[in-house]
Amino acid sequence: MSAIPPTNRLFRGEAAQVCLALPEAEKLDVVYLDPPYAVGTTMAMRETPGEARGRKHAASGRDAYVDGANVDALLAMLAPVFVAVRERMSDEASFYLHMDARAVHEAKVAADRVFGRRAFVGEVIWTPGNGSRGARAFGMTHQTLLIYARNDRKTARFRVDHPLLREPFASTSMKMHFKNLDADGRPYRERSVNGKTYRYYADEGRRLGSVWTDIPAMVANTPLRKEGTGYPTQKPELLLERILRAASVAGDSVADFMCGSGTTLAVAARLGRRFVGGDASPVAIEVTRKRLDAAGVPYAFMEA
Ligand SMILES: C[S@@+](CC[C@H](N)C(=O)[O-])C[C@H]1O[C@@H](n2cnc3c(N)ncnc32)[C@H](O)[C@@H]1O
Repeated sequence: MSAIPPTNRLFRGEAAQVCLALPEAEKLDVVYLDPPYAVGTTMAMRETPGEARGRKHAASGRDAYVDGANVDALLAMLAPVFVAVRERMSDEASFYLHMDARAVHEAKVAADRVFGRRAFVGEVIWTPGNGSRGARAFGMTHQTLLIYARNDRKTARFRVDHPLLREPFASTSMKMHFKNLDADGRPYRERSVNGKTYRYYADEGRRLGSVWTDIPAMVANTPLRKEGTGYPTQKPELLLERILRAASVAGDSVADFMCGSGTTLAVAARLGRRFVGGDASPVAIEVTRKRLDAAGVPYAFMEA
């Protein structure tokens, strides 16, 4: 855990500038960034019934932010953010970069240049659960999270001790291996390794792998659910909860310098982590403040 002020903070400003404005001694334990993806549109809000959220069109609400099509411009914006983030990461910290196939491969090369290949921990494929619309190719139904340590992949904190960090055994494995029942009727299997016998219960599942299909984006994107704010590209709280549970413990500091509707900050607060949030869009800041205020989360707000 790093020595930083106990106050949560939210800034309106450019990500690199906000990050570098933090006191030098302050170290971040998890940084999550969900930047624009090079979609080539303006992203708009849904605030009143009848308005449409997402890519701007005639029925859209207020503009939230611009997601330009130029991948080079996106990378030129991101590279200094990577440098600033690395500068402020603690030795056990993890950096999660969330993008999609439009620019993630080039972003990986740019991030490797800043962090070094030894710092690349791995990637997660997340399927938001939207159907394919592809007519000329397989539709893009997944997004990618690149994970970096500060220096060396072996140093990044990683925990596996929460049910959210487990997944069900494969159905073939269930049929083939979990044939025993204990006194309470729970199916299990036993394996012997080096003369020692280990018991695995079916209902405890196995360690979570790198393909996440169990967190639908819909929960964050419909006015029917409490967490939906109407902000375009809002991510589900469960996705951030899984990341924060894997990469941090209570009291750690979590940062999101492109926080949009404030998902990372709301989840960090709920899990007892401290946060630094930021976004360049005044609309994002307005939505985030409303969300944090409604949840009774204390924070200081500043213009960067
Ligand atoms: C994909 S959205 C983030 C959505 C967020 N994860 C959520 O759950 O609501 C990307 C955000 O990056 C912000 N942004 C884009 N460029 C930025 C920059 N240079 N500095 C800070 N924020 C930026 C946009 O305003 C937008 O809110």
